[in-house]
Amino acid sequence: MTEIIDKDKYVRNIFNTIARKYDLMNLIMTWGMLPGWQKFLLKKTRLTKGKKALDVCCGTGELAMQMAELVGPEGQVWGLDFAQNMLNIAQEKVKNSEQKNITFVEGDALQLPFPNDNFDTVTNGFALRNVLDISQAIKEMTRVVKPGGTVVCIEVSRPHNFLLRMGFNLYFFKVVPLIGKVVDKGKAIDNKFPPYTWLPESLKTFPSQEEIKRIFQGAGLKEVKYYPLGFGAVTVYVGVKRTG
Ligand SMILES: C[S@@+](CC[C@H](N)C(=O)[O-])C[C@H]1O[C@@H](n2cnc3c(N)ncnc32)[C@H](O)[C@@H]1O
Repeated sequence: MTEIIDKDKYVRNIFNTIARKYDLMNLIMTWGMLPGWQKFLLKKTRLTKGKKALDVCCGTGELAMQMAELVGPEGQVWGLDFAQNMLNIAQEKVKNSEQKNITFVEGDALQLPFPNDNFDTVTNGFALRNVLDISQAIKEMTRVVKPGGTVVCIEVSRPHNFLLRMGFNLYFFKVVPLIGKVVDKGKAIDNKFPPYTWLPESLKTFPSQEEIKRIFQGAGLKEVKYYPLGFGAVTVYVGVKRTG
């Protein structure tokens, strides 16, 4: 039990610590490919003007802001995260933009503070690795999406091709922690891994694409598909909530 509470606190502390450098690091680590992946994900949400969306574990609000643009002023977007410093950055971005159709809330992905069947789409970007219980997170996302609505997640994955996988392992497990060392001085959080060492560590126990597909199906999602992007370094998972 202590282990569980520890992981939650540890993850929150990580993101509260790196919040200011988070967007820059993301762009550097993904070699500028992130905006293209986000665009792909957004297409899979099937969002149109006037719709209602939720981004779970929204971090600094990048995806939520793009969704807000898609749904327009007649639509509404919520972003939820449990790290207040990440939310502060998201809120600053909204303050400095024209978009006023976004609400950011502090909350837990495993216990969403929203009623059943409430959103046209619910998304999650690069956070399934961080939650304590992946099945519970997907179940919660499914609970709050309307029947016929979409649940769309993007997460880091390992390429299947042997050579690409070797290159990926070298980059992700050796180079990323080094980049982190330059950016955040490699400071340990709660006497555990520094943030950009935690990033590859968290992938070690992360389920395969087929397992995630089964978790989606078990949560009540149909037409579940996954799409590897960036030579298989990330994967977008899509499911549609069953009607009735
Ligand atoms: C890697 S960041 C991803 C941020 C954003 N979705 C993106 O794509 O850039 C993971 C985020 O998940 C949040 N997080 C992790 N576990 C959470 C939980 N149980 N409830 C709410 N937020 C959580 C962290 O605070 C962090 O902001």
